[in-house]
Amino acid sequence: MVNGIIPALSLVFAATMLVSAGNQTPQTVPPPSASEAIHMAAQAERDVIGYATVERMCAPCHGLEPLVAAVRTKEEWDATFTKMREAGAQGSELEFQQAFEYVIRNLSALNVNKATAKEIELWLDESDKVALAIVDARNTSGAFKTIDDLKKVPGIDLKKLEARKDRVRF
Ligand code: HEC
Repeated sequence: MVNGIIPALSLVFAATMLVSAGNQTPQTVPPPSASEAIHMAAQAERDVIGYATVERMCAPCHGLEPLVAAVRTKEEWDATFTKMREAGAQGSELEFQQAFEYVIRNLSALNVNKATAKEIELWLDESDKVALAIVDARNTSGAFKTIDDLKKVPGIDLKKLEARKDRVRF
């Protein structure tokens, strides 16, 4: 399934899919447990479906370049999706949701000092526990100023954070 999609991928999309598929696990990290492996496979599949939906819904008019031309916040993407519906983008509500979530997870910027735990969970592909720990840390120790501040949050997945570091806003 992935092979059919890869040729059309921009590098950004290819990179996000590889990260989601867990291919960048350094060798020093122990192999995932069975439940982690299932979780990772589900995430990878969700991104393959999400990507295919984005390509089907968005590419016919202008390709995918406008999507990666600038890093937008969730609010900005929300406005863009509304604009694209008005421009004639077609899809079921489920498809719009899949496309939107794909874009939010893989392309959007997130202000880690303002986002809710739910937003962090989706964007960082983390458990609710880690998302709450992030909110907790900024409430107790003050706003995050750098990526290094974020890395100190107990339980945070450094690999996932690293993959998104250019999209973190403070
Ligand atoms: C029916 C044609 C059509 C479809 C389908 C479409 N767009 Fe667009 N899109 C346009 C047009 C026309 C423009 C340029 C005009 C503008 O910026 O208002 C544009 C511009 C954009 C831009 C850059 C301009 C901006 O608003 O900042 C982004 C980002 C974008 N589209 C994203 C998407 C996404 C995401 C989808 C799929 C959900 C999508 N488009 C589907 C017609 C379409």
